[in-house]
Amino acid sequence: MSRLYRFISLLPRPSQQLSLRLPTSRAFSGIIPKVAGINKSKQVVEDYDKYVAQNYTPLKDVVIARGEGVYVYDIEGRRYYDFLTGYSAMNQGHRHPKILAALKEQADRLTLTGRCYYNDMLGKYAKYATELLGYDRLLPMNGGVEASESSIKMSRRWGYEVKGVPDNEAKVILCRGNFWGRSIAAASSSTDPSCFMGYGPFVPGFELIPFNDIPALEHALKDQHVVAFMVEPIQGEAGIIVPDKGYLSKARELCTKNNVLLICDEIQCGLGRSGKMLASEYESVRPDILVLGKALSGGFMPISAVLADDQYMSMMKSGTHGSTFGGNPLASALAIASLRAIVEGGMCENAYKMGEIFRKEAATFRRDIIRDVRGMGLFNAIELNPNCGVSASTVNEKLRDHGILSKSTHEYTFRMAPALTINEEQLMDALSLMKKALEEC
Ligand SMILES: Cc1ncc(COP(=O)(O)O)c(C=O)c1O
Repeated sequence: MSRLYRFISLLPRPSQQLSLRLPTSRAFSGIIPKVAGINKSKQVVEDYDKYVAQNYTPLKDVVIARGEGVYVYDIEGRRYYDFLTGYSAMNQGHRHPKILAALKEQADRLTLTGRCYYNDMLGKYAKYATELLGYDRLLPMNGGVEASESSIKMSRRWGYEVKGVPDNEAKVILCRGNFWGRSIAAASSSTDPSCFMGYGPFVPGFELIPFNDIPALEHALKDQHVVAFMVEPIQGEAGIIVPDKGYLSKARELCTKNNVLLICDEIQCGLGRSGKMLASEYESVRPDILVLGKALSGGFMPISAVLADDQYMSMMKSGTHGSTFGGNPLASALAIASLRAIVEGGMCENAYKMGEIFRKEAATFRRDIIRDVRGMGLFNAIELNPNCGVSASTVNEKLRDHGILSKSTHEYTFRMAPALTINEEQLMDALSLMKKALEEC
């Protein structure tokens, strides 16, 4: 039997396909009830564990089968508040109706052409995004790591062609605790052993300094070979680390003074998540190069972008950089709809308001085990006291049992990042479930 035939014959027949009964009830609270007689998730988990590369450890006992707005539903029909939102790729909530409509309409017409042809959507998307965010041009990419890497390529080239850095001597400064993806270049500039160990030899030309440390930046920028400082205005994977007030604006000032490009990686903290369209707006900072991803697609497909003015974007000359899928018409239609949904849905304002409520309420929970509640907008973390004997993964499991899906970023820190569409009633409901879950820890 050919492998293809075998594969097709193994596909579930329509009659075997899993049907979903979605409850109309509120999110359950209390321990997950066992559904008598059926355990649809068992087979899924077995297949996962047997056939999928084991580079993730999914949260146990939940197989997500459907998402809608601020909720996801598991294969057995239980409802959860999604407080991860695909690592902030669904700021607009699951399957936002306007983004979904744009997807369907575009998919019915044209999905991909290749960048060697004009397509009728990319120009529209670039016009909308550049006007909205205030840059001359947009470079379309797919995953976040590609966009961040593109910004490094752009700044290295600018260093050689404009700044006069000797060939192959360009340096990019990053902060310790940064996370910008999983490529070899990203691994080469990571301080997290699980990202870089065993992946050498590494890409040269990166220098690491502590985050939120202006003297260290000032010192590093003295090197004439430095072309760029790449920074997350709020460090995401490091545990939602908000720098001191004035850090980013001072960094901007120092970059300008030293003829170094400021690259803001707003892939996770941007697009409304922090309570503003861009987290750098809190300090009225305009980076030379802005990197976006994740929620640029509302979670429908990988879409990322680099935005910059002509003087930097002109480094990307014909044939020097590209991507098969970057800027495809389907992605372009999705990105316009995703940005519009944030703007027209007042999501930045809502994230700001709901974030204030979240931190105020969460700060009253289990003060014996919680050391810190921090964040901006709906980009928040709860950090446990390391001596309390409870780990974030234990808390995640308790939260799951009470109908909330979260994700720990470190052993003692878990991120709370719901859809920016969450309303006050839903937030208060989620907070009361959180409270109950924490009380059981
Ligand atoms: C700040 C930041 N930059 C870049 C990336 C990489 O994005 P992707 O996983 O889409 O490659 C991430 C992913 O979490 C991120 O948080």
